[in-house]
Amino acid sequence: MSELIHQVNTTFKTRFSDPQVSVFSPGRLNFIGEHTDYNLGFVLPAAIDKGIAVAIGAHSEAKTRIYSVDMDELLEVDINQPLEKSDFGWANYVLGVVDQLQKAGSQLTNFNCVFGGDIPIGSGLSSSAALENGIGFALNELFGLGFDRMKLLHLSQLAEHEFVGVKCGIMDQFSSMMGKKDQAMKLDCRSLDYGFYPVDFGEYQIVLLNSNVEHNLASSEYNVRRAQCEEGVRVMQQKFQEIKSLRDVDMSMLNTCKDDLSEVVYRRCKYIIEENQRVNAFVSALEEKDFTSCGKILFTAHEAMRTAYEITCPEIDTLVDLAKQQPGILGSRMMGGGFGGCTLNLVHKTNIDPFIDEMRKGYKAKTGIELSPYRISVGDGVHRISS
Ligand code: GLA
Repeated sequence: MSELIHQVNTTFKTRFSDPQVSVFSPGRLNFIGEHTDYNLGFVLPAAIDKGIAVAIGAHSEAKTRIYSVDMDELLEVDINQPLEKSDFGWANYVLGVVDQLQKAGSQLTNFNCVFGGDIPIGSGLSSSAALENGIGFALNELFGLGFDRMKLLHLSQLAEHEFVGVKCGIMDQFSSMMGKKDQAMKLDCRSLDYGFYPVDFGEYQIVLLNSNVEHNLASSEYNVRRAQCEEGVRVMQQKFQEIKSLRDVDMSMLNTCKDDLSEVVYRRCKYIIEENQRVNAFVSALEEKDFTSCGKILFTAHEAMRTAYEITCPEIDTLVDLAKQQPGILGSRMMGGGFGGCTLNLVHKTNIDPFIDEMRKGYKAKTGIELSPYRISVGDGVHRISS
C-alpha cells in the first residue's frame, strides 16, 4: 500500500505541485451475503488493505484535470459546466461523485487529481466503490464540505446508479467507508445497523484467487437479477401487502406464492432468502469458532450462486471444483457481483503454499488462464494519509 501511495503522490508532484489532500480508499472482500444488499438483507464484508490512493489539490483555473496512473489517461473537464459521460470508463465514477456532491449543494472549484490502485478492475474487490469513496472523501476534506461518512457513502452509491448505470446495493460503498482493521462487518442493509466481528479463523486463513476473468455480462445481468427480485416482490405483495422487499419474505410466504411466480423468479427469491440465512449462520459459526461450518456455508453458497441465482461462470466454477480437491480447504466460493472475479477460500495455514501452487497449475491446465492469488488483510475504511 505504501508503494502505491508514494507513486500517486510523486506523480501528482511531477504533474502539478504538492497535493493538498491525499487519501487511501480500500476495496472490500465479502465473507458471505451476495446480492442480498439491494434486497435489504444481510452482508458480512470487510475493508481490505488494497485499494485506491487519491491525491488532490484545488485551483481557480478553467479545467479540472484527473489523471489515472494505471491507465495513463488524463481527463480535462470544467466541472462548472454540465457534466457529460466520458469515454474513459474510470472517469464516470469520478464525475459521478462530483455530480452528486454538486447536487447535494456543494460549491466546488476546479481541481487537479491523480489516482492509482493496487486492485485490478473487475476482480470483484470493488475497485469502483474504492474510487468513488476516495474521490468523495478527498473532495469533502479538500473543500471542507462537512459531509459525514454515511452521507458520502450514499453519494458514492448514487453516483454509480446515475452516472455509471449499475443499480448496485450499498455493501461496497459501506464497507470501504466504514471498515475497521481486522474486523468483519455484519450490515443490515435495511436499517443500516452494523456490528463488528473479529476476523479470526484460528489455524485457517482467507486466500483470494483471481480468475482473471471479467465478463461484460456483469453489469447487464446484475440489473436483470435486481429486476427479477423486484418482480418477485410485486407479485407477492398481492397476497402479502406487508412485503416491501425480499427481506420481508420467508420460505413459507414464498411457497404460498409459488404458482404466481415464474420458475426463474421463484428460484431467485429462494436464493435470496437462503443467502440471508447463510449470513446469520456464518456469523454464529464464526463466533463459536466452528470454522468447519463456516467452510461448508461457503461451498453451499457457491452452489446456490451457480444453480439458483446463475451468476457464476465456467472458469469460476472450475476454481471452486479444484479447490474442493485440495488438502486443508474448508470452503470456497465466488465473491462479488458475479461472472468472474475472485474466489474466497478458507485454507489451513500450513497448506497455503501448496494450495496456491496446485490451484495455479490446475486452473492453467483446464482454462489456459493464469491465476492471480492475493494474500490480503482486513484494513481500515477510507482515511487521510500524509501527502
Ligand atoms: C456488487 C455490488 C454490491 C453487491 C454485490 C453482490 O459488488 O456493487 O452492491 O450487490 O455485487 O453481493
